[in-house]
Amino acid sequence: MQTDTTITVLPGDGIGPEVTAEAVKVLKALAGSSDLNFEFNYADVGGCAVDKHNTPLPKATLEQCKSSDAVLMGAIGAPQYDELPGHLRPERGLLDLRKGLGLYANLRPARVYPALASASTLKPEYIENVDILIVRELTGGIYFGTPQEINESGGEARSTMVYQKHEIKRIARVAFKAAGKRGNRVCSVDKANVLDVSKYWRRIVKETATEYPDIELSHMYVDNCAMQLVRYPAQFDVIVTGNMFGDILSDEASMLTGSLGMLPSASLGDDYALYEPVHGSAPDIAGQGKANPIATIASAAMMLQYTLNRPDLAETIEQAIETTLIAGCRTADIAMNGETPVSTADMGQEIVKNL
Ligand code: IPM
Ligand code: MG
Repeated sequence: MQTDTTITVLPGDGIGPEVTAEAVKVLKALAGSSDLNFEFNYADVGGCAVDKHNTPLPKATLEQCKSSDAVLMGAIGAPQYDELPGHLRPERGLLDLRKGLGLYANLRPARVYPALASASTLKPEYIENVDILIVRELTGGIYFGTPQEINESGGEARSTMVYQKHEIKRIARVAFKAAGKRGNRVCSVDKANVLDVSKYWRRIVKETATEYPDIELSHMYVDNCAMQLVRYPAQFDVIVTGNMFGDILSDEASMLTGSLGMLPSASLGDDYALYEPVHGSAPDIAGQGKANPIATIASAAMMLQYTLNRPDLAETIEQAIETTLIAGCRTADIAMNGETPVSTADMGQEIVKNL
């Protein structure tokens, strides 16, 4: 029997609408040749929501996300919103969405497609066999700790990094479980040589590790990790870390794969799931058909894996991406000397053809 899967699509700003359109195309094509059926409903978040509804996260958007099986997001943000007060910034919409849906676990895989080995800024011999899963805590840490304030008259500002035991335990468990399905190794990244919050993080991660005797746990300071990622990235299996360190390290890890345009992500909670590319809204190339839709298409594959429990279909998409890259199809961000880049829509079309 065919069951409808409802997906809320949040195209957002900049290149968001272009890249989500290609992911929707791929999902529709997949539905046509499988037992799945998707119903897509669109809603606003980010700058476009500020323009239309005067808030970056309208209540109706949050409610619609909650009543869907999954959320597929593009990207948010544009320079014209940079000077708005904090509560009107597009980023606030995304943070409130993550918090509102309880999406505490952000999975950001960085896998090198062999066909793109030469697109990385690192030498091919260093990125061979790179297959890292960054598990980033997404609803706590310095992004959400209070107080957060700018005290103009006092000439100072503060943000607060807070982690509660249950927040550390649940993200550590996600990492240990994920490692159990991969290489059985978890590296927890912190700044425990300086920050109390990190000392506590490390202690609780160690404590949680006793529940997973088959997983090898190591610890690394975040500055060292940033260096190790470019020195010898193949050493990592699963990296688990807090919100801000994960934000920074996942951008760095994405470049191992050749382009930020390649990295998908899944944001998971106990009740809801959202899938989005790691890259931003790239306002400089918005609306020009230059964006790489692969990160969003690969995010749709993660949706099939995690929300729909269809690793077979996720693999179908992954294979189609790989085939398309092997055939030499490149958007501008991954085109090398002499290669003529294809448009966003052409890349999507090629992947559909190769499904
Ligand atoms: C990301 C982004 C966001 C973050 C911004 C846009 C709020 O950089 O998803 O990595 O910092 O989490
Ligand atoms: Mg980021």
